[in-house]
Amino acid sequence: MEKYVIQGGNPLHGEVEISGAKNAAVAIIPAAIMVKGVCRLENLPAISDTDTLLHILSYMGAKVTMINRSTVELDCTHVNMDALPERMWDLTRRIRASYYLIGAMLGRFGQACSTMPGGCNFGDRPIDQHIKGLTALGATVDVSGGFIRASAKEGRLKGAPVYFDKVSVGATINIMIAAATADGMTVIGNVAREPHIVDLANFLNSMGADVRGAGTDSIKIRGVKHLHGGTYTLIPDQIEAGTYMAAVAAAGGSVRLSNVIPKHLECISSKLREMNVQIEEGDDHVIVRRDGPLHHTNIKTKPYPGFPTDMQPQMTAVLCCAPGRSVVTEAVWNGSRFKYVGELKKMGAHIEVEDQSAFLEGVDRLTGSVVRACDLRAGAAMVIAGLAADGVTKIEDINYIERGYQNLVGKFRALGADIRCVDEPEEEDDLLPEDLNAG
Ligand code: UD1
Repeated sequence: MEKYVIQGGNPLHGEVEISGAKNAAVAIIPAAIMVKGVCRLENLPAISDTDTLLHILSYMGAKVTMINRSTVELDCTHVNMDALPERMWDLTRRIRASYYLIGAMLGRFGQACSTMPGGCNFGDRPIDQHIKGLTALGATVDVSGGFIRASAKEGRLKGAPVYFDKVSVGATINIMIAAATADGMTVIGNVAREPHIVDLANFLNSMGADVRGAGTDSIKIRGVKHLHGGTYTLIPDQIEAGTYMAAVAAAGGSVRLSNVIPKHLECISSKLREMNVQIEEGDDHVIVRRDGPLHHTNIKTKPYPGFPTDMQPQMTAVLCCAPGRSVVTEAVWNGSRFKYVGELKKMGAHIEVEDQSAFLEGVDRLTGSVVRACDLRAGAAMVIAGLAADGVTKIEDINYIERGYQNLVGKFRALGADIRCVDEPEEEDDLLPEDLNAG
């Protein structure tokens, strides 16, 4: 079983280049199904979630050509839904973004089929707002047996007003994709405003769509007949950047992050400044420095431009060593996004979770331990805790981390961290009795 092994205590120094945004990539790749022609995507992150989506598209008949590690050409001219292989569903079940296939297939074929979303397990993943939006556009949606199936009346969606009851990134993206080639105008209200929503709108527009207002709370989409090919460069990853910033805060040192959009990092930068971390912003880089003691603070997650839920575990890991009392409140997902707290406690953190909040009492140092990545961002939090801790930390279940971080080990090693990925056989003592019984 592959693990990360970290000898903590090294401050981080040097420069790290941030990759393309995972959350933009997992929306834009499915959206490319709507494009009749060659669509070249640049600054694509080399992570397992994008690999999975590219495989799914190739099962649908897309021609996928990797030009280099971060550039792909997708030709979806001949995609079809005629004989989707059974093994495609093994892939769609692995990732959350498979629900974007529904919007894209409906837009392209007037009918759609995918599995219920997979991905990180931090609570129920309701899709009622996706269904509400697709139904408003004239689709009939059926959810049964773990599958979502949808079809458009007379084979084509019709633009319509949609108002979400709740701000949802997923539902906003799905309806934007579906409406891009619907007949007439769609106006979506109470939408999410995350940077990757704007990136998807820019992608769709550069392929011939007419999407306006992305980044505000209302998006207008005038449907076009079809999308054409083109070249698009994805935005840098706000959360990957935030993770390296948090790592410098926890381990100390001074790091320049290149290929970032500082504006997207404002809420993270401002929290880190409260915690006594220095941040210098350039046009497309930030320099993060921490040489004094951390200060405690409170954090509450919110939809963008609020503090991102995807940075909640990493910041909790940093606050473990900030003297005094900090409170971290998760207001986007329910309390199960705190499952990783038990792992931080193994490292000596003083944290109690009550309802939607984690209450922390800062300790002097964390101590290395054997911990697991409970999900993608929780795994990143374990890396951060391990880098700052005394002694050796072993992180298991790293497949979660590799879903969303390109070359995490290489990038941290280049900053002076002592982190390795090792393939250690599972020790018998580690096996639980039920594992042994499972034969
Ligand atoms: C959310 C985050 C996103 C992050 C992603 C992965 C927000 C607003 N969204 O996006 O930044 O990258 O997790 O960690 O911060 N919901 C419904 N019905 C629906 C859809 C969603 O009730 O049909 C609820 C969810 O249960 C959740 C909230 O709305 O409580 C936000 O969900 P949504 O934004 O759709 O989730 P993701 O797209 O996964």
